[in-house]
Amino acid sequence: MDRDSAAVDQRGDALWGQAARRFWRLDPRWLSVNHGSFGAAPRPVLAAQAGWRRRMEARPGQFFRRELAPALRAAAGRLAGFLGAEAQDLGFVANATEGCNAVLRSFDLRAGDEVLVLDHGYAAVRNAVRHVAARAGARVTEAALPFPRPDPAAIVAAVAGALTPRTRLAVIDHITSPSALVLPLAEIVAACHAAGAAVLVDGAHGPGQVTLDLKSLGADWYVGNCHKFLCAPKGCGFLWAAPDRQAGLHPAVISHGYARGFAAEFDWTGTRDPSAFLAVPAALDFLAGLGGTALLARNTRLAAAAGALLAARLGTETGSTGPLGGPTGGPIGGAMATVRLPSPGLATSGLGTAEHAAAVQERLLDARADAPVHAIGGALWLRVSAHAYNEIGDYERLGEVLARILRAR
Ligand SMILES: Cc1ncc(COP(=O)(O)O)c(C=O)c1O
Repeated sequence: MDRDSAAVDQRGDALWGQAARRFWRLDPRWLSVNHGSFGAAPRPVLAAQAGWRRRMEARPGQFFRRELAPALRAAAGRLAGFLGAEAQDLGFVANATEGCNAVLRSFDLRAGDEVLVLDHGYAAVRNAVRHVAARAGARVTEAALPFPRPDPAAIVAAVAGALTPRTRLAVIDHITSPSALVLPLAEIVAACHAAGAAVLVDGAHGPGQVTLDLKSLGADWYVGNCHKFLCAPKGCGFLWAAPDRQAGLHPAVISHGYARGFAAEFDWTGTRDPSAFLAVPAALDFLAGLGGTALLARNTRLAAAAGALLAARLGTETGSTGPLGGPTGGPIGGAMATVRLPSPGLATSGLGTAEHAAAVQERLLDARADAPVHAIGGALWLRVSAHAYNEIGDYERLGEVLARILRAR
């Protein structure tokens, strides 16, 4: 860590770590180092959501017929400002899975076409790809990412090498779920476009973990979650579509807005509780109050330090090289880090399999420690997250828990 960063982190002691915990309802008896899986909404954001719910239930007709549409557009406007986008190109969805489904089910896939996914891609989204491909008679192809500690240029080469003249669509994760790699998106998008493939970015982990500028990224669609690192209430994500990709794009649920334009279609998909969407401005205000981009940078440093600490404690290695990793100097780590678990660690049979990973994760939960474990390339990898309420002591405690449970056979 450089001297400037150390100074920022020291000043941040008054804001972050233990000092920030009072804002969350997290159970202090649990080791919460897994913001990445389901997020955690802070009290001021939940209070804003409760305010919207009171309004909705006090005068339902007035709320749904008159107040909701402008309130949703105002919330989309605030979010757009944060993402480097325009409000009219953003629609709210309940989560990243729903947003990816909207794009995949709208895409005009034909027999013989190919859809490219990543081997580190999120399983639920890969299932949605399998479903639409099977219905169209299309093929799913896969790019294998170099891992661990890949060079960004090697990642781009792996994706480019898996594109064929038949690839019509590539589904690219912004930050991979099992391995926490921040992929070099701009270069990947350029390679896909050069090969004639459209790009759906699955950015479930992106917003609030890394800075985004959607307009300049050049992707065709970007799906993100607000309930992860943005700290919005659960059931809150968005779909951004490039202006020339909005015709023919429909939500996963078709309703009154059908064929009335992108925003109108996504703003109404039947009666549901929109309070999580409407609380997004409160989430953005909350994060700004905790330092905004300084907090994002601190979380990235903390995740890298956590990965290094755990790798040293377990005698293994990290999956990414931290904020300035890779020979090209490109950022490859965000506010999550992965560390390889020592083998055989708790294995009965099927060393390094998904079952083995699930067994270790269960033991961690039994020990009141929440951190996901994935099998990658025959080894187990643990993922930790860093958000405002975390501090290095959390990962020291996790190291102790891991050493204990991995010894116990
Ligand atoms: C890359 C990726 N895509 C999609 C999702 C799904 O997010 P959600 O359950 O909010 O739809 C996740 C969840 O962690 C993810 O990591």
